[in-house]
Amino acid sequence: MSNQIKEKAIEEITQADDLKKLEEIYRTYIGRKGKITEILRSLKDLSEKERKEKGKIANQIKQEISEMIKEKEHKLLAKKDKNEKDWIDVTAPGIKVPQGHLHPITLVQRQIEDIFQSMGFSILDGPEVETSYYNFDALNVPKDHPARDMHDTFWLKDLDLLLRTHTSPMQARYMEKNNPPLRIIIPGRCFRHEATDSTHDFQFYQVEGLMVGKNVSVANLKAIIEEFFKEFFSSSDIKIRLRPSYFPFVEPGFEVDIKRKGGDWIEVMGAGMVHPNVFKEVGYVDEWQGFAFGVGIDRLAMIKYQVDDIRLLYSSDLRFLKQF
Ligand code: PHE
Repeated sequence: MSNQIKEKAIEEITQADDLKKLEEIYRTYIGRKGKITEILRSLKDLSEKERKEKGKIANQIKQEISEMIKEKEHKLLAKKDKNEKDWIDVTAPGIKVPQGHLHPITLVQRQIEDIFQSMGFSILDGPEVETSYYNFDALNVPKDHPARDMHDTFWLKDLDLLLRTHTSPMQARYMEKNNPPLRIIIPGRCFRHEATDSTHDFQFYQVEGLMVGKNVSVANLKAIIEEFFKEFFSSSDIKIRLRPSYFPFVEPGFEVDIKRKGGDWIEVMGAGMVHPNVFKEVGYVDEWQGFAFGVGIDRLAMIKYQVDDIRLLYSSDLRFLKQF
């Protein structure tokens, strides 16, 4: 009898093609009310000899069946896994990969570069760590000028090096090695040892501009700057105003203000005609003249995107950055 049960169980296990059927087989044969279980339970009514004989066979069969079931279960599970992995729902919506983008300062810097490049200016890079010679001396900044005060400059320990306080040192570096005529811009990061507030940070970006030729005048300065701002704000309704100001490396020197449609005058850059002492220092002779300017990239980004605190630009706050 037991052997017949065994044959039947083997056949069923072999044919079972899912886990549910396998579970049913388990229940039918070796579960609590299973056929083999029942046989084992009925042994107690038999004689000792019979009990030994039949018990041995029944237990053996029970073990065989449960091993077969286990084996089959592994097979079915592996198959199930594989099927689930192979299954691709081609109608499911895709997972969006988060994409980075350029920082507002980079966006504005690139736009400035494009505009000046279209007006024949070359783009250069300069060192952020400077010598006091290029940052000050070569630019006609007198030794006792307040800009040299420890409060404005980050000095490097024990060295004659500093973090540049403006991009102007590149004027001297470039002219020293290149002959006029020339048109260059130098974008870059600058540093000042200052308390921060909504319009000042200890780091900021500038673009230096320099144009030298035989007849370069204030009129050229004004025309180029005006053209630049019209392009930058994509508007022909921009007014430019030069106010007299002082920078040791220019004479005359100006603050440049702009006024957009319906807006107020806002100060956007320092500029002027290159000081004869600067030309002398780099070895240019009298026949050359030119203008220079320094415009704050942060400032233009703040105006363009209506950002009211410069520190946001350096905060790495994604809630802010994701808006650009
Ligand atoms: N370097 C000056 C500054 O940082 C700006 C400037 C550049 C002024 C060139 C005149 C000419 O404020």
